[in-house]
Amino acid sequence: MKLTIIGTGYVGLVTGACFAEVGHQVVCVDNDVSKVELLRSGGIPIYEPGLEELVRKNTADGRLRFTSSTAEGVEKSEVVFIAVATPPQDDGSVDLSFIEKVAREIAAALTNYKIVVDKSTVPVKTGEKVAETIKRYCKARVDFDVVSNPEFLREGFAVEDLMKPDRIVIGVRSQRPVPAMKNVYAPFNAPIIVTDINSAELIKHASNSFLALKISYINAISVLCEATGANVQEVAHGMGMDERIGRRFLNASLGFGGSCFPKDLSAFVKIAEQEGCDFALLKEVQKINASQMDRFVKKIVDTLWVLKDKTIGVLGLAFKQNTDDIRMSPAIELCQRLQKEGAILRVHDPKAMEKASAVLKNVIFVKDMNELADGCDALVVATEWEEFKKLDLERARQALSHPILFDGRNLFDPAEMERLGFIYKSIGR
Ligand code: UDX
Repeated sequence: MKLTIIGTGYVGLVTGACFAEVGHQVVCVDNDVSKVELLRSGGIPIYEPGLEELVRKNTADGRLRFTSSTAEGVEKSEVVFIAVATPPQDDGSVDLSFIEKVAREIAAALTNYKIVVDKSTVPVKTGEKVAETIKRYCKARVDFDVVSNPEFLREGFAVEDLMKPDRIVIGVRSQRPVPAMKNVYAPFNAPIIVTDINSAELIKHASNSFLALKISYINAISVLCEATGANVQEVAHGMGMDERIGRRFLNASLGFGGSCFPKDLSAFVKIAEQEGCDFALLKEVQKINASQMDRFVKKIVDTLWVLKDKTIGVLGLAFKQNTDDIRMSPAIELCQRLQKEGAILRVHDPKAMEKASAVLKNVIFVKDMNELADGCDALVVATEWEEFKKLDLERARQALSHPILFDGRNLFDPAEMERLGFIYKSIGR
């Protein structure tokens, strides 16, 4: 099929590349001309495993093209996906101005029937507004359908999630766009759920909020575990064996971050408020997440006492593993909190150091994770990178002035750390 994706951020670019990979003809549109040029020349603006190869291959095979013209994208395709940013505003609500602008641009370019699909995460009832806007700004009397098709990919696993989705959600006002939408997704062999537009939009916010709730739930349990001497990982394992609960997203941590969970929670609370509902449960999820960071900082301060002029080595800057994304990263927040206490920081991240250098000032970036401990008073794990498990602990113990390691991601085994001679403090164990 001929498909256009407007917006080449995480969702747009990975979607475009994966659609091309399964055989569709894809045009990716972005109004950032320099980004379009970078993509045309084979460059990738983000780190995402497998994406670069996919973009190169499909561009070379002629199935994936990039342009800065929305009109060209609309003209060339039967289905136009909107995948632009929906950033948070100060009051927690979502800024929909990019969606509105793209809707107007699509309207101006419409000359025959198109399916306009919203893939960005948006508040419920946005589809209605998009339809109204296109109708208002379209000069000719052209038929179109608006569809909601939320994306559930995780950063760091985006290609994998897109190629093997758990489900595809398609929200429609009429049955007319359903066969075409089913054709778009036929190569992915995933269950397709067809709903009304409002339900599809709600599925996205409800899913992300539920996953955030699951993390806050296990984080609340981790507090009880620390108070009673229980082990949160054993509790999570025991709970997760129940198929109704499931083990995933039950990893206790110093808190969740990223460009989705914090933003989507605030947005969902706000959406509920606008509909006259107080979503107190989600406010509690936010509170638990903030207190998890407070408790972790307190643990470090209680152990090291005065942080002023102490050197701390921080492992991890990205908001999670397998990405260079530092938006709303708990690791960055932790660094800033430690700096406020007067600590000197040495930091390492396998992929996020360049992006972190724009926001973290007066820190020492260390390329080799095994050299991070040199001259440090303590080490802190802030991101769950798998490769941190391969840290040369023997070397680190010798390099540290005192063998203290705070693990905000429970990467190491407490018994083994004790055997190696570490004072080891993790979450809920
Ligand atoms: C999330 C959703 O998972 C995805 O479906 C949606 O499309 C976008 O938002 P993402 O933000 O990429 O994806 O990352 P995710 O893997 O969900 O992790 C979010 C945060 O939660 C990270 O900071 C991660 O470290 C943290 N986390 C995750 C935990 O603290 N514990 C867990 O058990 C899982």
